[in-house]
Amino acid sequence: MNRRDFLITTSAAALTPRIALASAPTQLVAQPVTAQILPDGAPATPMLGFNGSTPGPVLRARQGESFDIRFLNQIGQGSAVHWHGLRIDNTMDGVPGMTQGVVSAGDAFAYRFRAPDAGTFWYHAHNRSWEQVARGLYGPLIVEEQTPPDVDHDLIVMIDDWRMTDSGTLADDFDNRHDQAHQGRLGNFARALIVPSTPARRGDRLRLRLINVATDRIFPVELEGIDGKVVALDGMPLGRPQELSGLVLAPAQRADIIADVVSADPIAFVFRTQDGPYLLGEIPVEGVNSMRQASEISALPPNEMAQPDMDNAVSLTLSMEGGAMSRRMMQGMMGGNIWAFNGQSGLTDTPFHAFERGQTARIRLVNDTRFPHGIHLHGHHFFEVETDGTLGALRDTTLVDAGESRDIVCVFDNPGKWLLHCHMLGHQAAGMKTWVQVT
Ligand code: C2O
Ligand code: CU
Repeated sequence: MNRRDFLITTSAAALTPRIALASAPTQLVAQPVTAQILPDGAPATPMLGFNGSTPGPVLRARQGESFDIRFLNQIGQGSAVHWHGLRIDNTMDGVPGMTQGVVSAGDAFAYRFRAPDAGTFWYHAHNRSWEQVARGLYGPLIVEEQTPPDVDHDLIVMIDDWRMTDSGTLADDFDNRHDQAHQGRLGNFARALIVPSTPARRGDRLRLRLINVATDRIFPVELEGIDGKVVALDGMPLGRPQELSGLVLAPAQRADIIADVVSADPIAFVFRTQDGPYLLGEIPVEGVNSMRQASEISALPPNEMAQPDMDNAVSLTLSMEGGAMSRRMMQGMMGGNIWAFNGQSGLTDTPFHAFERGQTARIRLVNDTRFPHGIHLHGHHFFEVETDGTLGALRDTTLVDAGESRDIVCVFDNPGKWLLHCHMLGHQAAGMKTWVQVT
């Protein structure tokens, strides 16, 4: 991507998802849509969406409330919806072949679940996800705190990239093996989709809910024109809010930011690329809010988590293997699947590990490949272990760079069968997935 793309990006029109309230039963209809991804005047892009738009509608509830959603599949191929990051009942997790049957074209499925945690989440298709998510089948899911922080605007910022052809359609090489063996499907065009699209005033305090909805691209993001803190990652509040600098979002990761508008210039979301800055999107700034008193940005109230029992934790290792330029690839792995965990590509009949409900595990994630991977566990959040050995942020997706390893600590307290996979969806498609059982 280059500066020319950057110009295309800034003039693109905002998409307009609608707000749905969770208190009333809601229907989510997956169907073909067209979206103005490219700038006005350029052709609209045939995509997939929910209820007529991509991204799909904003689903919003207060913590402890329930969602009651009838999913209707009108995309012409099997699908299912996964509620990413929500610690819900296994039967509602939306993984075809594991937690439910695939929802065939024309069929429906009733999803009902209580939202246990306040935070920023999202939903997305979980059948041929590397294609269906790339085609637009996703949307934001927001769970509000009982007492939300005092802000002037609560904005959702979904960051995506698309691989566009010259005629404005999506390139349809979703199963490209070369992409899968490398970083995955990377787009040639990226944008931040900001909902709602409303100007801010200098002096306003904002809550920004960043979600990386791209299938495979990692976004290092810089924010200009605001001064604030990261207050939550992957929906889970940080004990101590962190600096904004150095923010990196792997696919599926989220960051909640509370920040004050300190400039009369537009607030800019900038993707730091190797070729220089790429503007993803902007929030216009109009006028001044002189009423707001300066105040500290404090931590959000924590969600309720089981405390890990480190003395009795089981120690496990999950080694990421395969891909281009890897030892395993040299050994001829390309004949079958491209990526593996612990020598095993794709799902097996037996789980990676069977946990007793409530058991604590310390899992060493070893990246023995030439590419970064964002590893996602369904149905749980886990602690990233810091280099000094202390428990760090609670996450549902952790980014492990090439050649690095990271320990995570998880209390497996949600019964069922849960996927554990790379959220670079092209890697998942090519075998980087396993599952755990909790009984
Ligand atoms: Cu966001 Cu298995 O998914
Ligand atoms: Cu990966």
